[in-house]
Amino acid sequence: MEQREESEVVREGLPPGPGWPRLALTGWYVKDPWGCIRSARGRYGDLFTLRVMNGDVVVGCTPAHARQVFSADPGNFRAFAVDALGPVLGEGALLVSSGETHRRQRKLLQPPFHGSRMRAYGRAMREVALEHGRALRAGKDARVHRTTTAISLDVILRTVFGVEAGAMAEGRQLLIDVLEGFSPMVVFSRKFQHPLFPPWRRLERALGVLDARIEEEVRQRRGRGEHGEDILGMLLDARWEGGEPMTAKEIRDQLLTLLVAGHETTAIALAWAIHEVYRRPWVLKRLREEIEGLGGDPEPEALARLPYLSAVCDETLRLRAVVPDVVRQLTQPFEYGGWRLPAGACVSVEIEAIHRDPGLYPEPDAFQPERFLERKPGPFEFLPFGGGHRRCLGAAFSDFEARVVLGTLVTRLDLRPLLEEVPARRNVTMGPRHGVPVEVLAVR
Ligand code: HEM
Repeated sequence: MEQREESEVVREGLPPGPGWPRLALTGWYVKDPWGCIRSARGRYGDLFTLRVMNGDVVVGCTPAHARQVFSADPGNFRAFAVDALGPVLGEGALLVSSGETHRRQRKLLQPPFHGSRMRAYGRAMREVALEHGRALRAGKDARVHRTTTAISLDVILRTVFGVEAGAMAEGRQLLIDVLEGFSPMVVFSRKFQHPLFPPWRRLERALGVLDARIEEEVRQRRGRGEHGEDILGMLLDARWEGGEPMTAKEIRDQLLTLLVAGHETTAIALAWAIHEVYRRPWVLKRLREEIEGLGGDPEPEALARLPYLSAVCDETLRLRAVVPDVVRQLTQPFEYGGWRLPAGACVSVEIEAIHRDPGLYPEPDAFQPERFLERKPGPFEFLPFGGGHRRCLGAAFSDFEARVVLGTLVTRLDLRPLLEEVPARRNVTMGPRHGVPVEVLAVR
C-alpha cells in the first residue's frame, strides 16, 4: 500500500533527460530520432526531457502517456513550433492554429476528408497509380520513392486542386518548387528565415508564385459560380459558423497545409510498403491472390476493403512510423506520467516507441501483416496518425490512397529490391535513405 502511494506522488518540474547542449541534441534528434530516443529511454526510462532548440520537450513512450495527451482537454495545448512554421504555412493554417480557431477550422475542413467522400477520389488515385506504374521500364533500375512521390503529388493535384489529367505539368512544377524549399532548417527554426539565407529566399519565391496561382483560381471559380467537386471546391462552398465563406488567403493557407502534411508522408509510406512487400515473396503472393480475387479491374472501394492489403498497409505504418512522434506545447500546468509540468513546456508522444513495444507487438522489428488480422490494437497502441483533437485530418484519405495505389501497383509490377533500406530524415519526416532502388523486371 505504501509503495502504491509513493508511486502516485506527483513531482513538480521536468523529468530528467540528457544534459547535452540544445543545438547538439537538436542535431542528433533531427538526424536520428529513433536512436536519440532509444538512448535517452535506456538511461532515463519511459518519460524524460529533451532540451532542444524549440523548447523543453517531455517525451512519453507508452500507451498510457498517449492516453494522457490524446484524451486531455485541448485547452491544455497549443501547436508546437508555431514560431517557425507560422511564417511558412501562413498564420491561418490548421497546423499552427490552436484553441477555438483550431476547433472552428477543423469543423470547416473535415467534410472533404470524411470517409464517405473517398469514392469521389478513388478513380483519380487508381488512374494516377496506373499511369506512373506504366511509366517504369522493364530491364531498367528505378527508385520507388521517386515514383510514389510523383503519384502522391498527382493525387493531390487532381483531388485537392482539381487539375485535369491533361494539364498536370505546370501544376506539378509549381508544387515541386515549393516542396523542395521545405528544408528542415528553414521549417524548424525561425532564425534561418532570413532574406540573406538563400534557401529561405528560394522558398519565399516559390510560395509567391503558388499564392498568385491559387488566388487566381479562387477568383475564377467564384466568378464562374461553379466551385467544382475537388477539395478546393468544397472549401469554396464551406461556410464558417457565422455563415461567411473562407477568404482566398484562408483557403491558400489550408491548401498549403494539406500539400505539406499530405504529400511527403503518403509518398514515403507507399515507398516503405513496396520495400517491405517485394522483399517477401510470400507476402507479395498472398497480396496478389487477394487482389486478383476481385477480377481484372477492381473498384477502388473494393481494394480499400481487402483485409490482407489493409493489414500490409497498417503493418507498414507500424514498423516504419513516417512521423515518429507528435508534440504539443502546454498552455497551463499539466500532469504527465507522474510529473506536474509547467506551462510553456512541451509534451511529446513517442509513436515509434509504442509501435515497437514487444509487449504489444511480439517480435516488433519484424514485418508481420498477420498481426493486424489476429488482433486489432487499442486506440493508444497504433498511432501512425497521432491522436486526439489534432489527429491527422487526412488519415482516411491516406489509408484509402495507400490501399488503392499499393493494390494497383503490386499486380502490375515485378520488382527486385536492390538493397535493404534504413530510415533517414527527408525534410520534415523520416523516409528510406536511398529511395528504395529496385530493378524493374516486368510491367503489365
Ligand atoms: C501516411 C500518411 C500520413 C501520415 C503518417 C500522417 C501523419 C500525421 C500526424 C502524425 C499528424 C499529427 C497528429 C497529431 O498532432 O496528433 C498529422 C497531422 C495532419 N495531417 Fe497527416 N499524415 C499522413 C497523410 C496526410 C494526408 C494525405 C493529408 C491531407 C491530404 C494530411 C493532413 C494532415 C493535416 C491537415 C494535419 C494537421 C491536423 C491538425 O493539426 O489538426 N495528412 N498527420
